[in-house]
Amino acid sequence: MPLSVVILAAGQGKRMNSDLPKVLQPLAGRPLLRHVIATVRRLNPDNVFIVYGHGGAEVQEALRDEAVDWVLQAEQLGTGHAVMQALPMIADQDQVLILYGDVPLVSVATLRRLLAASDAGGQAAALALVTAAVDDATGYGRILRDAEGRLAAIVEERDASPDQRSIGEINTGLMAMRAADLRVWLAGVGSDNAQHEHYLTDIVAAAVRQGGPVNTIRVEDAAEILGVNDKLQLAEVEAQYRRARARELMHAGATLADPTRIDIRGEVTLGHDVFIDVGVVLSGKVHLGDRVRIGPYCILSESTVGAGTEVRANSLIDGAQVGEECVVGPFARLRPGTVLARAAHIGNFVEVKNSTVGTGSKANHLTYIGDSTVGSGVNVGAGSITCNYDGVNKWETVIGDGAFIGSGTMMVAPVSIGANATIGAGSTITESAPEGKLTLTRAKQTTVENWTRPTKAIEKPKD
Ligand code: UD1
Ligand code: CA
Repeated sequence: MPLSVVILAAGQGKRMNSDLPKVLQPLAGRPLLRHVIATVRRLNPDNVFIVYGHGGAEVQEALRDEAVDWVLQAEQLGTGHAVMQALPMIADQDQVLILYGDVPLVSVATLRRLLAASDAGGQAAALALVTAAVDDATGYGRILRDAEGRLAAIVEERDASPDQRSIGEINTGLMAMRAADLRVWLAGVGSDNAQHEHYLTDIVAAAVRQGGPVNTIRVEDAAEILGVNDKLQLAEVEAQYRRARARELMHAGATLADPTRIDIRGEVTLGHDVFIDVGVVLSGKVHLGDRVRIGPYCILSESTVGAGTEVRANSLIDGAQVGEECVVGPFARLRPGTVLARAAHIGNFVEVKNSTVGTGSKANHLTYIGDSTVGSGVNVGAGSITCNYDGVNKWETVIGDGAFIGSGTMMVAPVSIGANATIGAGSTITESAPEGKLTLTRAKQTTVENWTRPTKAIEKPKD
């Protein structure tokens, strides 16, 4: 049967005390709403409707690459009212799945269970909803059951009696039902409550009154249904997300120095026996080959690291391909377009951008390599710089195999250094240097005789 998903995202999120609309608040660097959409996509729905309202233009702009149908809720008159805005676009026989944009960690498995619970032999039938038992139910709607334990209604915290508030079973907000039923139930929902809003949750009592089947399923791990209403809950959800990603890495065989001190904000793939130290941030697509070791406080994004490579503390690697058996860092910076061949060494305070560094080549200290092709077996001495920018254009430097660049060399691009050339320390190279020879550009060292240091013009009075 066709599946239409409705994601509610129109609320302001007053409790956030933020100018950013709630559903755009970042979780692992991406808006909350994006996480929900990504999960929903895995169900291959026929339609995805996003009900937006507060901060509307900003929300649409931030998610403009998502293929979804936007439905405006001009005034935020409650979750029931929000769903009503999408209903005219949904056919009667569709199965409807309702999600909240501020409940970002829900798993596909739970959504599949929920859809199955509202399905009667291939037909959407029952109203199904997801509940959870939580230690602290503050802020959530409570699940009311009759003496036989059957679902009776949901009462919002603001409308609940002290007795009802002590109920630990809460409404997660996730529901599924047949569109035709939803239409009937919603039509009967009023706004006689503490917030004078049309509550989606009131359809439960309506469904019960109508006598149709109402099924609840429980999530085992309440972490996945955490709602984000304030910055404390946002931090809690971030911590849950971090924990879950860390667990995935460990299941895949990685050793983490401390699973609570790693941030994974993208897709990480791993070889065997990877070790990751504390404070590491991995974002975008990152691949770490067999036996890779990542030292403390490194940030890697959109990069691959070859087998046996060691990345030492405090290195930044972005958009780079690091070969096997390399040593990078501590304090190295590899920028987009960097390709390191096997066993290259990039040491402390060395920056490489848009450059290829050949097999076994080394730049171990205080160097900038930009827009360059560095051959294999090259040694770039401390403090050497490819001067790739003339203020207007970027130019290329080519360094041949086996070249030895003395410390403090300025290579003013475009320039090339021949294979096995040696450049004397402190040279400024503006013309190509021939292969196999020593080239240097140095003023002759002189010692000035009869020179004395200047003295202070006025003597300081003695005290
Ligand atoms: C809601 C549920 C509560 C449940 C909790 C789970 C209702 C009445 N209450 O409470 O039972 O335990 O979620 O997290 O549904 N929204 C709109 N338009 C509106 C109002 C809200 O689109 O007019 C959106 C919000 O952007 C948000 C979602 O609906 O994504 C939930 O709204 P929120 O105000 O956070 O509801 P809760 O008080 O958390
Ligand atoms: Ca909420």
